[in-house]
Amino acid sequence: MTKVLEAKNIVRDYHVPGGMFRPARTVHAVKGVSFSVDRGKTLAIVGESGCGKSTLARIVTMIDAATAGDLLIDGNKVDIAKEKLTSEMRRKVQIVFQNPYGSLNPRQKIGDVLAEPLLINTDVPVSERRDRAMTMLKKVGLEEKHFNRYPHMFSGGQRQRIAIARALMLNPSLLVLDEPVSALDLSVQAQVLNLLADLQDEFQLTYVFISHDLSVVRYIADDVMVMYFGEAVEYGSRDEVFSNPQHSYTKTLFAATPRADVESIRARIARKQAAAA
Ligand SMILES: Nc1ncnc2c1ncn2[C@@H]1O[C@H](COP(=O)(O)OP(=O)(O)O)[C@@H](O)[C@H]1O
Ligand SMILES: [Mg+2]
Repeated sequence: MTKVLEAKNIVRDYHVPGGMFRPARTVHAVKGVSFSVDRGKTLAIVGESGCGKSTLARIVTMIDAATAGDLLIDGNKVDIAKEKLTSEMRRKVQIVFQNPYGSLNPRQKIGDVLAEPLLINTDVPVSERRDRAMTMLKKVGLEEKHFNRYPHMFSGGQRQRIAIARALMLNPSLLVLDEPVSALDLSVQAQVLNLLADLQDEFQLTYVFISHDLSVVRYIADDVMVMYFGEAVEYGSRDEVFSNPQHSYTKTLFAATPRADVESIRARIARKQAAAA
């Protein structure tokens, strides 16, 4: 098994400057977290709001630098603080956010949204950019007729498909998904999760999937890391973590979660579609 991602003792402190009435302080957002993900696998990072999930996502995506610790992508050490990262390194890791609307330019047609990463990062000629964008559009379950439409003409689920398609345009090896389905209706969540599972198989993708929703995590994860106030309090295979949670926070988290089971949602959608046909 090859490790696509390895993180060793990642620390991230934020220095918050003081104001007139409050002293400067340091937020310890991530306190020495280690994990790794093998090619084609999904690591889910779960925990409540503010525990440091998005901070880790930004570090893994090389948007932000860790205060301490080592990050290895495909076995190569990343050091964004010291040297300029090669575009090759950046290309390998892409991110999808919870709200794709924020990252889609309202005046850009979807075809151009998808072709843009190729325009910026490669010398692929225009006709081939177009072809590849069209192919990817179909891969994520959209149609040719959507190519010339604008972001506001799509539903939330479709926009998330577009964000996923854009993230895949440069053939990344690792996709970081930060709460990718949290803003979607349950039935749409299941569809997008199925799409992610299909794409993972087809492109041998490796996922870091961030969520606060355990039913989603149970469905998508190979391994699970539970975070609590910047620390990993639980880390293991999905079955280990779900069947035998060790930490008291995880036990509370599991006990508090309604068991909206994604399998049953999928079955229901299938029944509905069959009935409508
Ligand atoms: N740019 C920043 N400056 C200061 N504090 C931050 C910054 N970004 C995040 N934090 C703090 O770091 C902690 C972790 O935040 P975050 O990684 O966004 O958590 P999560 O994604 O799990 O909700 C929180 O206490 C948050 O307020
Ligand atoms: Mg977050």
